[in-house]
Amino acid sequence: MEIEKLKEKAIFPEKRDVIIPWIWTEEALYILDQRLLPSKEKYVKCEKPGQVKNAIKNMLVRGAPAIGIVASIGFYLGIKKALKKENLTKNQLKSLANRVYSVLSSARPTAVNLFWALNRMQRKLETLLKACNNFLSSYTFLINNGLKEEALNIWKEDIEANLKMAKLGAEILPSGNVLTHCNTGALATGGFGTALGVIRRAYEQGKIKTVWVDETRPFLQGSRLTAWELSKLRIPYKIIVDSCAGFLIQKKEVQAVIVGADRIAKNGDTINKIGTYSLAVICHENNIPFFVCAPSSTFDLSIENGEQVPIEKRDEKEVLFIGNKRIAPDSASALNISFDITPSYLISAFITEKGIIKKPFEENIPRVLKNGS
Ligand code: MRU
Repeated sequence: MEIEKLKEKAIFPEKRDVIIPWIWTEEALYILDQRLLPSKEKYVKCEKPGQVKNAIKNMLVRGAPAIGIVASIGFYLGIKKALKKENLTKNQLKSLANRVYSVLSSARPTAVNLFWALNRMQRKLETLLKACNNFLSSYTFLINNGLKEEALNIWKEDIEANLKMAKLGAEILPSGNVLTHCNTGALATGGFGTALGVIRRAYEQGKIKTVWVDETRPFLQGSRLTAWELSKLRIPYKIIVDSCAGFLIQKKEVQAVIVGADRIAKNGDTINKIGTYSLAVICHENNIPFFVCAPSSTFDLSIENGEQVPIEKRDEKEVLFIGNKRIAPDSASALNISFDITPSYLISAFITEKGIIKKPFEENIPRVLKNGS
């Protein structure tokens, strides 16, 4: 179906932006295949949780908040289908929900937003089922609508969080040039973006001269996705190879670095795209502020520090090939670690929708997340 027709059928069209990473209709979820950007804008139809899982695993959609939102829609699609079964009982639906949960949660291990969003969907289902008798035929509408609303809320709340972070972040970002890593824009979130949302708002306020975009090997989230978003938004940028950042920072060509996160531990250790740790060290060495911008759904207060987070390793082919072209000798093998751990002492502040979190993080993270700043 044509994209424009799909957009007209979207369940939640209010978020329409110049960047539309997925379209959710009554029929299915259509995910923009980010692997093909910037050359091609193609949406892939997903009707089942397994298809949504594959879209996340194979990185048609990526970025911690986006993964969570899309997984919650995948959960809804799975339950919606099950509700069509005749004589469905509570126990049957519960065990199906557990299967859907394990399929979707196995898509990627590091971004906590995936588990956070699926847990919310599971809890919502449990609450809805409390109001039902054992046979669910008279309750299908209630369950269907309740879960659809929850997935929508997860999405809408993420957009609201992004807009709040953009406002707060733009206030503390110094004027001049900013450097960012990976992609944290509308493609990676419910809309607008985390770190890139701050840059977007700060640019509107006249604070940004140039955005230095790390190309972000090997998946090239920077040179393919962030550059694509910045082009659409008409924000001036230049792509640099990841290893150029140190030189630019040393030469005072960077006034701040701002990145997103996949998971933040209780002590502030931050897990984000591979290369983030090196950037933080260089900023520390050169006295440049290093900001992490993430919604509260990215904080995992159940873990004490970054060492406890499962770090994803991906297929070596992502390193050995660019597109279909092999760039290393046939006999070469590669190590493709997707994320690294930035110790909290290297981070200047966290920008969250609840407020800016400054040091001491152990004390301030739980306080601000609970009560705001
Ligand atoms: O492997 P990816 O592309 O999913 O990694 C994405 C990142 O590391 C982002 O910085 C993070 O998820 C935050 S997105 C707002």
